[in-house]
Amino acid sequence: MKRPIAYIAGTGRGIPARVMTNHDFAALGIDTSHEWIVERTGIMERRIASDSESTCSMAADAARTAMARAGVAPGEIDAIVMSTATPDRLLPSTAVDLQAELGATRAAAFDVSAACTGWIYGMTVAEGLMHSGVIQTALVVGAEKMSSIVDWQDRSTCILFGDGAGAVVLKRNKSQATKGILSTFIRSDGTLAELLWRPSGGAKHPFSQDVLDDRSSYVRMAGRETFRHAVRSMSEACERALDGAKLRADDIDILIPHQANIRIIESTAKYANVPMEKVFVNVDRYGNTSSASIPIALDEAVESGRVKEGTTALLVAFGAGFTWGSMVVRF
Ligand code: ACO
Repeated sequence: MKRPIAYIAGTGRGIPARVMTNHDFAALGIDTSHEWIVERTGIMERRIASDSESTCSMAADAARTAMARAGVAPGEIDAIVMSTATPDRLLPSTAVDLQAELGATRAAAFDVSAACTGWIYGMTVAEGLMHSGVIQTALVVGAEKMSSIVDWQDRSTCILFGDGAGAVVLKRNKSQATKGILSTFIRSDGTLAELLWRPSGGAKHPFSQDVLDDRSSYVRMAGRETFRHAVRSMSEACERALDGAKLRADDIDILIPHQANIRIIESTAKYANVPMEKVFVNVDRYGNTSSASIPIALDEAVESGRVKEGTTALLVAFGAGFTWGSMVVRF
């Protein structure tokens, strides 16, 4: 096992106040039911941002809490790594908006685009920058306003997603430290891109009246295929992160998977040989918040005492691309 280069010094989350329950879809004319959604996904409710809440504003809430808990001032941040599939604007990055909002005057800032796996990718990049000696302290944020890109006329997708942000302060370890990131694993398969995507609205098919008319700038997903790949890839990722850390499933105190669907979570835990008592679940309250889901869950796990000093956590994610990844972290 390698010496951990970086450790998580503080966590935080930024969650919109507005709760949307499964029953609220009826008012939008969506032909669905609470029972169908709970049975297929485990989701009871999700948070939906107001017009005045943005990806950046939720990220800033999460970041301020994480920095306060880590005892780090904005001027001490060397890099802001922001993972989002829902940037507030296409140019510049949402990370620079966050840099300005926080007054993190010494920080480099950039977005990472790896969909629901984005925060794991971002953590891996930040750890790498620490390994190479470029930075000492990073803010790694996952923030998503998924409600702005789902098709509210498509019942097969709009019931799945929610808004929110999670953040951690990552710090470079002193030598001989034993806590921190013990292993990371990241992968992708772009041949499957069109199973979960937004066909239009980018440079290849820019916005036009046709795009608005055919609703092709919204998320489209082949649910069953995505489900199958998610379970297979997350199971592989759990194994690879454990191998990298020279640990066995029994050594893990808590598994924090991407919160997309309770059935995906249960299948992943089963293949990874981690009992459900050790799995953190909050998909029932937030739905799928894409790359914000793991840092939000981690923050709740810290707050509730399920993650504390000495805890060994396995984090695993899967998302559009497809992308997948995992890490083992000792606290
Ligand atoms: N309410 C009621 N009925 C619905 C709804 C709904 N909201 N949505 C679809 N249906 C209907 C379909 O029309 C279909 O009806 P039919 O049989 O008459 O054609 C029926 O329910 C079954 O549809 P399926 O798509 O086959 O249902 P499935 O059991 O696969 O569940 C679901 C759908 C929940 C989307 C599932 O496939 C899934 O969870 N997939 C993974 C999705 C996911 O988590 N993606 C994100 C992972 S990656 C990331 O986070 C970006």
